[in-house]
Amino acid sequence: MKLSPSLLSADFGRLAEEIRAVEGAATYLHFDVMDGHFVPNLTFGPPVVNALRRHTAIPFDIHLMIDRPATYAPRFQVGPEDVITFHVEAADPPDEVIRTVRKLGCQVGISLRPGTALEEIVPYLDRVDWVLVMSVEPGFGGQEFIPEALDRIRELRRLIGDRPITIAVDGGINAGNVRQVVEAGAEVIIAGSAIYGKGDPAAAARALIAAC
Ligand code: DX5
Ligand code: ZN
Repeated sequence: MKLSPSLLSADFGRLAEEIRAVEGAATYLHFDVMDGHFVPNLTFGPPVVNALRRHTAIPFDIHLMIDRPATYAPRFQVGPEDVITFHVEAADPPDEVIRTVRKLGCQVGISLRPGTALEEIVPYLDRVDWVLVMSVEPGFGGQEFIPEALDRIRELRRLIGDRPITIAVDGGINAGNVRQVVEAGAEVIIAGSAIYGKGDPAAAARALIAAC
């Protein structure tokens, strides 16, 4: 299992320190970019994400919960280890977004809301590197894990077949359910409040890994 701590639950006034706290446990850092349209919440964008490059060598996992991913993806500074994930429900056509993100030289991720049928992403599976399964409604941290996500992860595994695609799962994951999520087929675990909501992010990250 690879851990991608979500900075959505971190102290935004001390982001560099919050990142340092999970070095050693984190394979990726998860950035929830929200535009107030695609989801009813606003967070941060390219200037904040790009500025944090100077403070860490951990690859970035950039989750775009925005309507126009093809317009804004090129504003993120990315390398081959980073991932930019867009939503299949966004306003820009998925084909255009995949082409745009691919050109940036990073990994391409596709995501879907809990209520969107998995079939919606099947046409794109040959052209993406990872699929991010939302196990809460996108927009806010600290929500409860939707149990139906476990069956969706198993079904997605089947649909992926032998394609080299990573499954990431995002939302409501904690030390009590992480093992089930990994057993269902998740390779990357994204967790916000379980890591940053308890005062000691390093210990919380280690506890999540230990729980697997
Ligand atoms: C929700 C975000 C998640 C969020 C997860 O829209 O995509 O990444 O940070 O937070 P927790 O782990 O608290 O559910
Ligand atoms: Zn996210």
